[in-house]
Amino acid sequence: MTRFTVAIDGPAAAGKGTISKAVAAHFGFAHLDTGLLYRAVGAKVLAGGDPVASAKSLTEQDLQGNLRTQEVAEAASRVAVLPYVRAALFEFQREFAARDGGAVLDGRDIGTVICPDAQVKLYVTASAEVRAERRYLELTENSMDVTRADVLADVKARDKRDSERAEAPLKPADDAVIIDTSDLSIGDAVARAVSAIDARR
Ligand code: DC
Repeated sequence: MTRFTVAIDGPAAAGKGTISKAVAAHFGFAHLDTGLLYRAVGAKVLAGGDPVASAKSLTEQDLQGNLRTQEVAEAASRVAVLPYVRAALFEFQREFAARDGGAVLDGRDIGTVICPDAQVKLYVTASAEVRAERRYLELTENSMDVTRADVLADVKARDKRDSERAEAPLKPADDAVIIDTSDLSIGDAVARAVSAIDARR
């Protein structure tokens, strides 16, 4: 098969990651979680690095390790407002999207900026309360010491920064299929994504 790109965008903890992995496995597509790129840059900045230099020199190695903490998420959201950081990560994402055999990329600006020509664009969302509860359960399962109120405040702060920034703000592409997972099981959300993709193949 030639190139086929699925762009999946949406706010933190809406279910993008779960849906992206399931869809990639279902269709045999490669998957890139683009949030990890920003998280890796954020982690380097927390360790004292320069944001742009860190983005330009990212390696596979930098994507390993524990990037799923609140602190790194916050740092990622901060470096993600910087145009030169976004520019430094652009080409890698474009190349990934153009690979043979199909690709799923999930993030904030895939359907709007990185792959405006993607065959399928999904925008996965849910209420801030539902997303905060999911993130809270995930963090406490991994023995992290957080409160529900802190997680909700963090989700809202990140939403605000991600959607109000000048460069590539979080928003659905005009032609995106919206999937609101607030009241959907994982299975139902994945089924909707699969049928939206089937409809374009
Ligand atoms: O999806 P995530 O929580 O791993 O993303 C972490 C941060 O990275 C998010 O708050 C904003 C930024 N990000 C972005 O600006 N553009 C993307 N395509 C993916 C993530």
